[in-house]
Amino acid sequence: MRDASIVSDPSLPARVRIVEVGPRDGLQNEPSFVSTGTKVELIERLIDAGVSYIEAASFVSPKWVPQMADGADVLTRVGRRDGVTLAALVPNLTGLDAAIAANCEEVAVFAAASERFSQKNINCSIAESIERFAPVIARATAAGLRVRGYVSCVLGCPFEGAIAPGQVASVAERLYRLGCYEISLGDTIGAGTPNKTRAMLDACAQRVPVSALAGHFHDTYGMAIANVYAALQSGVSTFDSSVSGIGGCPYSPGATGNVASEDVVYLCDELGIETGIDLAKLAHAGGFISDALERRTSSRVARALDGKRRRREATPV
Ligand code: HMG
Ligand code: MG
Repeated sequence: MRDASIVSDPSLPARVRIVEVGPRDGLQNEPSFVSTGTKVELIERLIDAGVSYIEAASFVSPKWVPQMADGADVLTRVGRRDGVTLAALVPNLTGLDAAIAANCEEVAVFAAASERFSQKNINCSIAESIERFAPVIARATAAGLRVRGYVSCVLGCPFEGAIAPGQVASVAERLYRLGCYEISLGDTIGAGTPNKTRAMLDACAQRVPVSALAGHFHDTYGMAIANVYAALQSGVSTFDSSVSGIGGCPYSPGATGNVASEDVVYLCDELGIETGIDLAKLAHAGGFISDALERRTSSRVARALDGKRRRREATPV
């Protein structure tokens, strides 16, 4: 629960929207298949914690990303609730049609700011990917689905190194003009720092309204939460995060998971920013998936809360 003594900083957004990407970004790179039942239970626990937007699956080639092959089953089995959006990643029309058939409420297309990453990830150039997305966005919009757009490698590429902020802004603008309502800026390799984050966001905000930009930070160098704070100061109010900090991209060698959702919610709570999410319940959902993956949580906040609980239980009354 939020501390009533916390005074909000008026220069920061009053409310943050969390896009929970754990079931998709978090699990897509797991080497052993995570059962459909576990994925469904994770999503339902996240919803119980108050998470209202969940990227639940991706409809990509199962040869490229076998872990996401059960996307249709996941979306069919999750109990739908008012006010909760279940979204999926789609790379082409085949993926979009599968997402619509599975009753998906929103989709996301994904481009990159780096040519080599684009080739590795979706087997085409940046320009070809934009051409491929145009009919996807048009068909999704005609079917009543909103479309998010991702730009990967916004603060560095595993194959090309540094990426110019202007290049990120150019790809973000192209997706926005095609009809994506929001552009999620992905630090795929987690190499960003607050200064670089600000410079990249400044460049993007010249071409896309800042209200339509989202931060998607991976935590490889432990800078993700600092980058979230820098982005908040730049006016960004939507952040992608994964419960327990799970994840990584199969085409980004060495990169770790996203910033942990628990850490973002704790930061927001402490800054007096609303998220609508119950931190204790979220940490339980993180405990569930950490146990299922037989791995310790990557969330520093979840570890601290767990330690506090254990000390309390060990203290004789
Ligand atoms: P391709 O091989 O060039 O495509 O792959 P293709 O059209 O020639 O199709 C090859 C085969 O895949 C065919 O099957 C198609 O039917 C099938 P076959 O004839 O060989 O049996 N296929 C599909 N099957 C199911 N669903 C589909 C689909 N499309 C084709 N939608 C393709 C191109 C884009 C399909 C492939 O490269 C792909 O699936 N890539 C996905 C890679 C991926 O999911 N990466 C991780 C997500 S991105 C990410 O994590 C970054 C992000 O988090 C942000 C950040 O952190 O920066 C978003
Ligand atoms: Mg990612």
